[in-house]
Amino acid sequence: MTQKSTLTHPGHLMIGQLTATELVERFGTPLYVMDEKMIRNQMQLFKRVFVHPKLASEVIYASKAFLTLAMCNLVEQEGLSLDVVSGGELYTAYKAGFPMERIYFHGNNKSAQELAMAIELGCGTIVLDNPFELQLLLPLLDKPQRVLLRVNPGIDAHTHEYIATTKHDSKFGLSTADPATLTLIQQLSDEPLIRFMGLHAHIGSQIFEADSYRKEAETLLRFIRNHQLNIVELNLGGGFGIAYTEQDHPLTLSEFLPSLLDHIADQIEALKLNPIKIMIEPGRSIVANAGTTLYTIATTKTTVNGKNYVFVDGSMADHIRTALYGAHYTAVVANRIDVTPAVHYTVTGKACESGDIIIKDAYLPACQSGDILAVLSTGAYHYTMSSNYNRLPRPAVVFVSDNEARIVVRRETYEDLIRNDLGV
Ligand code: LLP
Repeated sequence: MTQKSTLTHPGHLMIGQLTATELVERFGTPLYVMDEKMIRNQMQLFKRVFVHPKLASEVIYASKAFLTLAMCNLVEQEGLSLDVVSGGELYTAYKAGFPMERIYFHGNNKSAQELAMAIELGCGTIVLDNPFELQLLLPLLDKPQRVLLRVNPGIDAHTHEYIATTKHDSKFGLSTADPATLTLIQQLSDEPLIRFMGLHAHIGSQIFEADSYRKEAETLLRFIRNHQLNIVELNLGGGFGIAYTEQDHPLTLSEFLPSLLDHIADQIEALKLNPIKIMIEPGRSIVANAGTTLYTIATTKTTVNGKNYVFVDGSMADHIRTALYGAHYTAVVANRIDVTPAVHYTVTGKACESGDIIIKDAYLPACQSGDILAVLSTGAYHYTMSSNYNRLPRPAVVFVSDNEARIVVRRETYEDLIRNDLGV
């Protein structure tokens, strides 16, 4: 489906070359809109800057941030590899025709069925999280399988507790301080059908500190040297933070990533290690800023204590990050972006929860019924974390490319909501 825009519209938020208003007229609200060009540009940026003359490198897109069949196609076309963490993500990639050899199957609790599916489909690399997964994997193998092991280097990356992953009591991976980790590495190296390639770690998400990544790399390289491990790949995970509001100051990737590789190349030389390929797994930083959620404003309410609410036609079911992490967002009234903000609103929606808050404090022009509220930077962990709470149908997802828009996930219907219900 396509749509052409011929006019420019002062005062209107543009996504690509289309106004938010015309997208809403055409596709309704709530609506997830993804700027396809921005996604492609971000992927190209990663591919361009994550290179080093002395190191092989690879960029793997972490699909948990945003995954649909159409997204798989973009990842494929831009030449990135793909990180999946479940049978469902793997199935999506498979149905999109994504090259299986470019898939990394993560997850801290993969089932026997998921592993069997991965092997049957020819999934390139399995990233094991614990010895139990190895026991599940071994009987499935009849040919060599590339494997990485997730380890936990004990780095505190100073992010929200729920998205920090490598403190010592984390549920993810095996600690580099635990002797059992070395035992498992030895076993992996000895297994005839396991091609043990190396280590994987992920220190958390929405990280702003370059130093956390340097420490992660140093810790892992020293671990490899101290134990004389025969390792040829090192996957440092994702986590690169993005700006949701003016208070967020993300790393400049075009400077940070080459400098990280420089640092790693120096370390490898200083520690006299054999060549190691370095991988990263960005999710949020590829899709977050490309996404906008559009809502229609129903009405406003001022409480007796003077608190201002604006009610939109979505909810925590399509926007969970504020309720879950206390996340902050920027919003604009998309049909009047030239009007000066005048009122502090709490943006809330339709869900039957006081915690149904989309933005705690949004400074906006006085809102009117029928206005379009655009919540910015919602491309990561919004569609993928959406639910049907209160039997609210999930919004459609639209890709915009220049002056064209196409639905990549259709809006759920009430019929979709009862599709799996039985026992009438
Ligand atoms: N690799 C691994 C092994 C991961 O666990 C993750 C994220 C990533 C890569 C990608 O991280 P990113 O570049 O997107 O930060 N739902 C939370 C984020 C959870 C991230 C979980 N793992 C949120 O909305 O903030």
